[in-house]
Amino acid sequence: MRRLLPTPGDVDDAGLVDAYRLLPGRSLRVNFVASLDGAITVGGVSEGLGSPGDKRIFRVLRALADAVLVGHGTSSAEGYRPITADSAVGRLRASIGRPPTAPVVVVSRRASLSPDDRLVGAPSPTICVTCEAADPARRAALEGAGVRVLVCGEDDVDLPTALDQLAGLGHEQVLCEGGPQLLHAALTAGVVDELDLSIAPALVGGESRLLADALGTPVRPALVQLLEEDGVLFARYSLAAPGAR
Ligand SMILES: NC(=O)c1ccc[n+]([C@@H]2O[C@H](COP(=O)([O-])OP(=O)(O)OC[C@H]3O[C@@H](n4cnc5c(N)ncnc54)[C@H](OP(=O)(O)O)[C@@H]3O)[C@@H](O)[C@H]2O)c1
Repeated sequence: MRRLLPTPGDVDDAGLVDAYRLLPGRSLRVNFVASLDGAITVGGVSEGLGSPGDKRIFRVLRALADAVLVGHGTSSAEGYRPITADSAVGRLRASIGRPPTAPVVVVSRRASLSPDDRLVGAPSPTICVTCEAADPARRAALEGAGVRVLVCGEDDVDLPTALDQLAGLGHEQVLCEGGPQLLHAALTAGVVDELDLSIAPALVGGESRLLADALGTPVRPALVQLLEEDGVLFARYSLAAPGAR
C-alpha cells in the first residue's frame, strides 16, 4: 500500500495502524466501502466491493476501536459475529496492546436483534441501543440473553445520548460500520468526526447508496489522508475540521 497524501511513501502493516491511530478522547468514525458511483453493495452485500487492502483497513479500524456500532439492517444483512480473541481482529488488537475483544453495538429502534442471534453470548457482551418505544418484552428477552440494552430516547434512538452512554461504559472511540440509515442519522445529529471511505474502482448502479435520503445541509468533509493499493483509494476525511459540520 502507498500513501499519496499528506506525505507520499510506502505503508507497511505497522504503518497502517499508525495511519489510522486517533488522539485520546471521544470520537465517532464511520467506515464504508463504495463504488465510483456511490453503490455500497453488489447483490445486497458489501463483499463484492472489497479488496485485500480494504480488509486490512477494516481490521485496523476495528483493532483501534473501543466498540463497533452498526445498524440492525447491516448486522443482519452482513451476518455480523462477535469480535473474538482468536479472530484476525482479536490477534491484531492484542499485538498492539489492546484488549483482544470489543463489543458490537447494534442500533435498533424496535430492538429487533434476536436473542438467538450469533452476536448474543459474545465475550465482550453485545450491546443493543434502542428507545422507550421498543417492545418492553423484546428488550427484556435481550437482557435475559445477556445483551446489554441501552435505552436512548423515547420514540427514536437519540444518538448523542447513546454515545454518551457508551463513553460512560468506557467505549470512547467508536467505529460505526453503517449502514446508510445509521449514517444519515449520525450526520443529521452532527456526531460524526471522521469518514473512512474505501473507493473501489467499480461502477455498479442500481444498488444501495451511501446515503439514500437527502441531508438538510450538505456535509463537506476535509480530506486528511489518501492511501492507494491495486487501484483502490482509501480516503480519510475529517468532519471535525472547522466548517465540516
Ligand atoms: N459498503 C459498505 O461499507 C456497507 C456498510 C454498511 C452497510 N452496507 C449495506 O447496507 C445495507 C443495510 O442498509 P440499511 O438501510 O438496512 O441500514 P442500517 O442503518 O444498517 O439498518 C437500518 C436499521 O437499523 C436500525 N437503525 C439504523 N439507524 C437507526 C437510528 N438512527 N435509530 C434507530 N434505529 C436505527 C433500524 O432497525 P430496526 O428496524 O430494527 O428498528 C433500521 O431499520 C446492507 O445491504 C449492507 O450490506 C454496506
